[in-house]
Amino acid sequence: MSHDRPHTAAPLDDPDAKRMLNEQLFTAIAPNYDRINRLLSLGRDAVWKDQLVGALPDLEAPRCLDLACGTGDITLRLAGRYPRGLIVGLDLTEAMTDLARRRSTADNVEFVRADMCEMPFPNAHFDIVTGGYAIRNAPDLDKALAEIHRVMKPDAVAALLDFSKPAHRVAQILELAMIRLWAGFWGLVFYHKAGLYTYIAESLRRFPDTGQLRDILHRHGFTDIRSRRHFGGLAETLFFRKS
Ligand SMILES: C[S@@+](CC[C@H](N)C(=O)[O-])C[C@H]1O[C@@H](n2cnc3c(N)ncnc32)[C@H](O)[C@@H]1O
Repeated sequence: MSHDRPHTAAPLDDPDAKRMLNEQLFTAIAPNYDRINRLLSLGRDAVWKDQLVGALPDLEAPRCLDLACGTGDITLRLAGRYPRGLIVGLDLTEAMTDLARRRSTADNVEFVRADMCEMPFPNAHFDIVTGGYAIRNAPDLDKALAEIHRVMKPDAVAALLDFSKPAHRVAQILELAMIRLWAGFWGLVFYHKAGLYTYIAESLRRFPDTGQLRDILHRHGFTDIRSRRHFGGLAETLFFRKS
């Protein structure tokens, strides 16, 4: 990715262009990704991930998939929570999976480079699917959810943490402006380029609001949808089940 060329919003409307933009963007920010994540969330991100993994069902040796695993924050927590389980971290960006592999000392974890819209796993393979800031990045949300549904066993559980868009238009405008400013500030501090971090607001603007997302999950065959809200609803973890 050219660091000098601010990325435009238009590629986010085209699945192939969004996939390519994501790979370029996350390759560029991988080295500072964890540090900026902590600063962006005022240190809360790690707590939300602890809570997500802590709220998963007690299973002896589950197969777990961590979507868009990045540097492995949730993947490695899963490995600790389920030492007899098999944990797969999946991500599109090699720079991210490389960092995750370097961080990992667990022997029950593997990292796979793939697109969440086309996953290299058999049907009904996983007991648990997690994702931190995952499906908002999907080149095609419906394809990603169909894939998630396909690879989950019947009754398997999913937990997805992400920014959450309120349904009310004015609240949306305020939230997106705040995220754009705050994330842009850290883009400026680390890269002298606010544009690298305006992706969060741009992708969230195109993403369904919290109510619409529940409807979409229902339509894809997921049930028992529960939410744990963070920062007054700015972010949330959605827990649901494959029916
Ligand atoms: C915001 S990071 C989240 C990383 C990690 N899950 C966390 O919670 O910190 C988003 C990740 O999504 C990955 N990604 C983007 N598009 C993807 C796709 N189509 N399939 C799989 N991973 C993707 C990026 O490479 C990046 O590592």
